[in-house]
Amino acid sequence: MRSCCIHPSILSADFVNLQSELDRISSADSVHVDVMDNSFVPNLTLGLPVVKRIQAVSPVPLDVHLMIDDADRWAPEYAAVGVASVTFHAEAAQAPIRLARELRSGGARAGMALRPVTAVEPYLDMLGELDMLLIMTVEPGFGGQSFLDVMLPKIRRAAEAVRGADLPVAIQVDGGITEETIVRAAEAGATVFVAGSSVYGADDPTAAITALRRAAS
Ligand code: DX5
Ligand code: ZN
Repeated sequence: MRSCCIHPSILSADFVNLQSELDRISSADSVHVDVMDNSFVPNLTLGLPVVKRIQAVSPVPLDVHLMIDDADRWAPEYAAVGVASVTFHAEAAQAPIRLARELRSGGARAGMALRPVTAVEPYLDMLGELDMLLIMTVEPGFGGQSFLDVMLPKIRRAAEAVRGADLPVAIQVDGGITEETIVRAAEAGATVFVAGSSVYGADDPTAAITALRRAAS
C-alpha cells in the first residue's frame, strides 16, 4: 500500500467550532476523532453523541480512535454510527478478535492500537482480522508531544509482517507527526498518518495537509 493517507486529529481543533474546523480539513483523507475517558488515558474529550454529530456534518470520513476502557462494550456502538473506521486499544479489549469481527460486521473498518510499550509480536497472527494497525508514536492522551523515534523498529516489524502475509492492513501512526517525522515513519512502512498540532496549528491547514502528503510519498 502506498503512503497516502493524512488524517488530521480534531483534538487540536477549536471544540466550540467543530463544524468549521472540519471544513478547514476537507482536503484530508479522513478526520481522526480521539475519544478519551479519563481512565484509559488521563484526559477527557468527547463521546458518542458528539461523534454522531461530527459524522452528520463532516466533509470527510471519520477515523475514530477510542482511548477508553471496556472497548468490547463501547466500540460497536461507534461502528453503529456509520463511521468509516473504529480503532480500539489492544490493552483495553478482552477479546480483540471477536471485537474486530463485530466492528466489521457493523460496517466499520476495524483498527487496533498499541501503546508505545505494547509489543506487536503477540498480535501478528490476528492481523488478518484487522483493516488497520495503529502504532502509537507518543503516549496516548495528549496532542503536541514529540514523536518517539524508538517506535520506528516496531513500525518496521509490523509493516514486514503485513507485507509477508500479503494482507491489506494499513499501518497508522499517531503522535508527533510533522513534515519531518512523517518521512521516517513512511520509510519504516507506515501508510496512514494522524496529525493534530501540525495541521491545526498551521495558518493554512490545507497547505499543511499537502506538505505532509508530499513528504510521506
Ligand atoms: C494522542 C492522540 C492523537 C493526537 C495527536 O493521544 O491519539 O491523535 O491528537 O496529536 P499530535 O499530532 O499533535 O501529536
Ligand atoms: Zn489519536
